[in-house]
Amino acid sequence: MAGKTMRAVLYEGYGGGAAALKHVEIPVPSPKKNEVLLKVEAASINPVDWKIQSGMLRPILPPKFPFVPVTDVAGEVIEVGPGVQDFKAGDKVVSMLNSLKGGGLAEYAVASVGLTVDRPPEVSAAEGAGLPIAAGTALQALKAGGATFDDTNKPSNVLITAASGGVGSYAVQLAKLAGLHVTATCGARNIDFVKSLGADEVLDYKTPEGKILKSPSGKKYDSVVHCTVGIDWSTFEPNLSASGKVIDITPSPGTMVSSFVKKLMWAKKRVVPLLLIPKKEEFKFLVDMVKDGRLKTVVDSKYPLSKAEEAWAKSMEGHATGKIIVEM
Ligand SMILES: NC(=O)c1ccc[n+]([C@@H]2O[C@H](COP(=O)([O-])OP(=O)(O)OC[C@H]3O[C@@H](n4cnc5c(N)ncnc54)[C@H](OP(=O)(O)O)[C@@H]3O)[C@@H](O)[C@H]2O)c1
Repeated sequence: MAGKTMRAVLYEGYGGGAAALKHVEIPVPSPKKNEVLLKVEAASINPVDWKIQSGMLRPILPPKFPFVPVTDVAGEVIEVGPGVQDFKAGDKVVSMLNSLKGGGLAEYAVASVGLTVDRPPEVSAAEGAGLPIAAGTALQALKAGGATFDDTNKPSNVLITAASGGVGSYAVQLAKLAGLHVTATCGARNIDFVKSLGADEVLDYKTPEGKILKSPSGKKYDSVVHCTVGIDWSTFEPNLSASGKVIDITPSPGTMVSSFVKKLMWAKKRVVPLLLIPKKEEFKFLVDMVKDGRLKTVVDSKYPLSKAEEAWAKSMEGHATGKIIVEM
C-alpha cells in the first residue's frame, strides 16, 4: 500500500469537540514488526476518545498532533508486518489499536498482533468493533468484584450503574452469564431494555429509590460495577454486604484517596478504582461469546465515516444506549 492515501478523521489540538474533527486524505500506514495493516470496516467510539481530545490525559495522550482518534476496530487484514505468523491477508479480525497511536477513524489502520483476535463470520464488524474497551472493561470489573466465569462462581449480588451505556450493557449480560443476581440503574426510557439484557431488578436513577440505590428486594450488593459519576461513598456504603466492593471505572481523585485510606485501614467494604488492562485472551473470550450468541453488542447508532463528527457529538452527549459505531 506504499504511496497510497486514505480518508481519515483527525484533530489538531486539545478541545473543540466534534466541531474540531477534520476530514483529511493521509498516507496509508505501514505495518511494522508484529503488526498488521487492517482495512477498517467499523470502529466504535468510547468516552475516553473525546476525553483525550479534551486534554484530560495530557501530556501523555495524545502524544502529538495531528491525532487520528479511536482504538476499537473490526476489519480485514490487508498486509502483515515482519514476524507475523498468526494472521494473513483476508483474515477478519477485531483489534484494539495502540492508545498512543490511535488511528481507528480511518479507512486503514495498523494494529498490534498482541491485541488482535480472529473474528468469525457470525460476528459482524459492528458487533466486533463494540467490544474491546467497553466489554473488556465490563469483564475486568466483574472479575475484580469476584466473578469467575467458570463453575466456581458463588451466588452473589451485583449492582451495575448506567446499565444502558456501552460498558453497562455488556456488564449486565456478562454478570448473568457468571450467574450473578443483577440490580441495574438506568433512565426510565431504558428500563425494559435493561431487563431484556437479563437484569433481575432495575432502578430508574432519577427516582428517590434510584438515587439511594436500594435494591427493590432488599438485597445487599457484594459488588458494584460503577459506570457513571456523581455517587458518593455514603450512598453506596449502606447498600453493600459486609465485604462489598465498588469497582469504580471513572474514579475521581477523591475516590483514589478514599480507596487508599480504606486499604490502609483494612476496611472490608471498599472502593476499587479500575483501569482497563487490555488482554488478548479476554478479547477472544468476548468474541467467542458473541459468536455463540451468548453476548450481544447493543448498537445505539451507526454513522458513515463522512459523518464521524455526528457520532462523536452523540457520544459526548452521554445518552447512548449501547455502542456508537462508525462504518468505513
Ligand atoms: N476505567 C476504564 O478503563 C474505563 C473503560 C471504559 C469506560 N470508562 C468510563 O466509564 C464511563 C461509562 O462508559 P460508557 O462507554 O458506558 O459510557 P456511555 O455509553 O456514554 O454511557 C451512557 C449511558 O449512561 C447512562 N447514564 C448516565 N448517567 C447515569 C446515571 N447517573 N445513572 C444511570 N445511568 C446513567 C445514560 O442513560 P440516560 O441517557 O438515560 O441518562 C446512557 O445510557 C465513562 O465515563 C467512561 O469514560 C472507563
